[in-house]
Amino acid sequence: MWEPLHALGVGPGTRVAVAGLGGLGHLAVKFAVALGADTTVISRSAGKAEDAGRLGARDLLVSGDQDRMAAARDRFDVVIDTIATPHDLGPYLRLVAMDGTLSQVGHLGPVTVETLDLLVGRKKLSSAGSGGLPVTAAMLDFCAEHGVVADVEVLPSARVNEAIDRLGCGDVRYRFVLDMSDLG
Ligand SMILES: NC(=O)c1ccc[n+]([C@@H]2O[C@H](COP(=O)([O-])OP(=O)(O)OC[C@H]3O[C@@H](n4cnc5c(N)ncnc54)[C@H](OP(=O)(O)O)[C@@H]3O)[C@@H](O)[C@H]2O)c1
Repeated sequence: MWEPLHALGVGPGTRVAVAGLGGLGHLAVKFAVALGADTTVISRSAGKAEDAGRLGARDLLVSGDQDRMAAARDRFDVVIDTIATPHDLGPYLRLVAMDGTLSQVGHLGPVTVETLDLLVGRKKLSSAGSGGLPVTAAMLDFCAEHGVVADVEVLPSARVNEAIDRLGCGDVRYRFVLDMSDLG
């Protein structure tokens, strides 16, 4: 999540939207907020509004709310799309401002793009991985300086099946860590 925000020059005042509030998304919000960006979450679920606010986002847009999505057209300099499943990029490209970028980092695989969604507003579509060792080192320094950590729920390893079941329902904020000390 650091890599696309860093590569796209996100800083104070950049208008950033993070689509999908999960493992990647919650860290994208934390990074964007710590970088000083004006940060919004886009989620399927209005129930994540409290979490979005706690993470420092100014607002949560529900992706199924056509009126609010239309009102947010051309609003964001950078949209980080962490949605894990194949989906239409159109609604997210339309939120990107003139000369802005949609960074597609969630679903990794073929996508279909309506080129008019890029043409109108001279928008860019990109992606990102880890950025390699130097960028990872810079990311860790930034985390240490700004207190950015992943939100995890620690379970004893004996409860691994519970973790798997809850993962299947998307019921985790935002990663499980299995404590293996119960095996010793
Ligand atoms: N680019 C990279 O280097 C990189 C690195 C690691 C992982 N990934 C990829 O990133 C993706 C996300 O990973 P993650 O750990 O963040 O997953 P995750 O914790 O499951 O979160 C993904 C989020 O996507 C949204 N989502 C899930 N299913 C959806 C659906 N059917 N329709 C619309 N939205 C949906 C949900 O957000 P809401 O509930 O808020 O809508 C969910 O919280 C994975 O596909 C993974 O392969 C990429």
